[in-house]
Amino acid sequence: MSTPPRSDRATPLLQRLGDVSGDELVVEGHRVSAIAEQVGTPYFLYRGEVVLQQVRALREALGADTELYFSIKANPSVGLCQVLQRAGVGAELASIGELRVSQAAGFSPERVLFAGPGKTDRELDEAVRWGIGAINVESLGELERVIATARRQGRRQTVCLRINPREQVHGAQMRMGGGPTQFGLDEELMAQAVKLAQAAPDAVDLAGLHVYVGSQMVDIEAIITNWEHVLALAEALADLGVSVRKIDLGGGFGVPYFDGQPEFDLAALGRAFGPRIAARVKASPKLKDAHLIVELGRYLVATAGLYVTRVVDVKESRGTRYVVTDGGMNHHITATGNFGQVFRKAYPMANVSNLRASADLTATVVGPCCTPLDQFGAKLTLVPPRRGDLLGVLYSGAYGYSASSLGFLSHPSPAEVLVLDGRLHVLREVGAEDAVVKSQRPLEA
Ligand SMILES: Cc1ncc(COP(=O)(O)O)c(C=O)c1O
Repeated sequence: MSTPPRSDRATPLLQRLGDVSGDELVVEGHRVSAIAEQVGTPYFLYRGEVVLQQVRALREALGADTELYFSIKANPSVGLCQVLQRAGVGAELASIGELRVSQAAGFSPERVLFAGPGKTDRELDEAVRWGIGAINVESLGELERVIATARRQGRRQTVCLRINPREQVHGAQMRMGGGPTQFGLDEELMAQAVKLAQAAPDAVDLAGLHVYVGSQMVDIEAIITNWEHVLALAEALADLGVSVRKIDLGGGFGVPYFDGQPEFDLAALGRAFGPRIAARVKASPKLKDAHLIVELGRYLVATAGLYVTRVVDVKESRGTRYVVTDGGMNHHITATGNFGQVFRKAYPMANVSNLRASADLTATVVGPCCTPLDQFGAKLTLVPPRRGDLLGVLYSGAYGYSASSLGFLSHPSPAEVLVLDGRLHVLREVGAEDAVVKSQRPLEA
């Protein structure tokens, strides 16, 4: 951005997305207003180059030997997944729909792994038939079902054990490991799972383990300590007679959505990763064939995305200025604080139609969803929006479209566009106004 309009949290993020031309945000030559004319509002905009920058930075920190996997749940847009696939990133999926996305995006099956509780027989059948790189099993029962599925198909499926560690995990804002949980096999069951797999060498090849303990992790020491524990578990697995080839360390690196949250210190992670993780694997005779995997959703794509919504109304109520936009929690549930967040705080936002003027309006920005929960933030400082201006919500590349209740209030679903190498790709058209009716059957006479 040639002339930063002001110093705030949105500005450095906007600078990664584009430049200011005239007054508005322009992404590799594409004006946000022109995109709005082409695809309608609201829309999600992704810049491929920012995703690629994240990939490069991660490779620099974790070394080229550590395999990166993208958690499709963070953003199942096929075009965005293609950017990652072409950059050599693998895919971690959790449903048959995400399996279809990974196929459409061109991932080869051996670069895909399937994790998550509640995998149905149908999903297991499809994954095994496709020759998926690994199924990370979450229970003894699931392991039995993979064995049965592989036998039925006359195939041998690679599996990893997703382990729920005995120790409590610290440092995650959303904890998914330690204590009782639906995720993974309790560490105490590891030996039993190994026996089960070893008794079915025709059907499964037990290749390693997976530990994913939580999301929005920013405490580097906690991550590294967790990973050291994962390596100890991998050695314990080797002691049980398993040839360990895959160690999926999980990931869940955080981004600083809210005021006061720290940036994820990737350089510090890199400094600790070399001596304490990569070197330890190299030095361990039990892990000599092991490849390390780190799987990330948010950290790879959040910064690359902007949710663009149009101002429909600006009104005053008893001394509070309200800016009402044409999209809200129906399209972007995480930015409105309705996705498990404990505190309702605002993502950084900006008036992307007018980035040069001074931000001197304090306002509450709300969507059209007829509930007080539909609010992007209160007491936000903005360049005063006029009716028709476009507001941009930063950090919108992850858990936006796919995490939201798109059917709520029956507005059309938003478009998604990707800018890559100067070209604008429409990844998804805006939904039809009558889609809500077309997907239903009225009573017959
Ligand atoms: C098993 C697994 N891997 C990866 C992720 C991605 O997490 P994040 O987007 O925080 O990186 C999740 C999120 O729920 C997950 O359950």
